[in-house]
Amino acid sequence: MSAPKKLFIKTYGCQMNVYDSERMAEALGGEGYVETKSADDADMILLNTCHIREKAAEKVYSELGRFKGLKAEKPDLKIGVAGCVAQAEGEEIMRRQPLVDLVVGPQSYHRLPEMEAKAREGEKVLDTDFPEEDKFEKLKSRPKAKRGPTAFLTVQEGCDKFCAFCVVPYTRGAEVSRPADRILREAQELVERGVREITLLGQNVNAYHGAGANGDLTLAQLIWELDKIDGLERIRFTTSHPNDMQDDLIEAHGTCAKLMPYLHLPVQAGSDKILKRMNRSHTAESYIRLIERIRAARPDILISGDFIVGFPEETEEDFQATMDLVEEVKYGTAYSFKYSTRPGTPAAERAQVDPAAADDRLQRLQALLGRQQREVQESMVGREVSVLFEKTGRLPGQMVGKSDYLHAVHVADCPREIGELAKVRIVSSGPNSLAGELLR
Ligand code: 5AD
Ligand code: SF4
Repeated sequence: MSAPKKLFIKTYGCQMNVYDSERMAEALGGEGYVETKSADDADMILLNTCHIREKAAEKVYSELGRFKGLKAEKPDLKIGVAGCVAQAEGEEIMRRQPLVDLVVGPQSYHRLPEMEAKAREGEKVLDTDFPEEDKFEKLKSRPKAKRGPTAFLTVQEGCDKFCAFCVVPYTRGAEVSRPADRILREAQELVERGVREITLLGQNVNAYHGAGANGDLTLAQLIWELDKIDGLERIRFTTSHPNDMQDDLIEAHGTCAKLMPYLHLPVQAGSDKILKRMNRSHTAESYIRLIERIRAARPDILISGDFIVGFPEETEEDFQATMDLVEEVKYGTAYSFKYSTRPGTPAAERAQVDPAAADDRLQRLQALLGRQQREVQESMVGREVSVLFEKTGRLPGQMVGKSDYLHAVHVADCPREIGELAKVRIVSSGPNSLAGELLR
């Protein structure tokens, strides 16, 4: 038998890319590849790229340039570009970087084995189609190896919202939901392999409307189906759009014990003028009312968000409205970005904000969000939370896991296994994690 070929995948960007990289590794596993952690001994290198913000494409080109020596040493080495940069600029990549053998867009991963075979024959292969079939169904996984206690599961992909700053509707395509039975089967399989927490993924996950036996299911209905799986202890989902936050999903946060008290609900900005120009189709007020309803269903829920500062035509007053909204909502954690022009999106054509002003706003926003994050973490001290252990800690006898609220928790003197859930009392709050003690 010949030695297995080695595959090195480097993943950029969001959790969906992490999930996709796992699926690509499985698909190529069927072709005799095993994963390696080093590009140096790889027979195939795949960059799974992200196009959401700043200089993504440039990063890919400079990363590719670094493989030049490697390819000169190993002429059989195949180099591929996957993900959203591949989708957005596939042909350009092929033209600009002759090292690249293969370009595959996010909707074509199930065709990777064929593409790999062609690349081995010396062909240059590019596939950035948006085919009709369910790629995940075609991406049959290998023998059921044991895996860690947490997993991502893509349930919905693409987006029809067309926020004026965002490339996702162009790179991931129109919104599509996977049928419920396939998701449930995959979830069952994950649980059989040791998974106890599943995070449902979608660019617009709460717009989920996958086919079920009696018509389409909402995300909440899908969650209730997952709730029935024995051995599955925790369910999360990300990322949601405020306009798709339906009543049954809000209610589930109050009634479904497996649904964790954490919600990532990006608002992007607090000024109605800017929200309108972003094509967000909600207002600051409607978002705040929505948060109130969610908190009425689940008072302790931790809210997380995304923000963009320096969107075209944002004034200091508009920015203040974002700060006011943050003060009002109080976020447990948040991601904030300076607006970056994405060619081909509507906002790219508009008058840009002075970069120094945008930098200054980002600093002020991040200071406020950081303060809120610390306050929320500190409010956990003295409370009992459940922790799902994911790994051993750096200190002897220490275990590290995540609380219901997705805080990392370190527990000293902890005779528990990875994959176990335990009740823990939080004793202190550090910069990026909490410390707790096991309740016996
Ligand atoms: N510039 C800055 N941030 C962006 N995001 C999306 N597109 C852009 C852009 N052009 C942010 C949004 C989104 C998150 C995933 O990335 O806040 O919610
Ligand atoms: Fe992009 Fe999200 Fe807006 Fe869709 S809803 S366009 S993914 S920011």
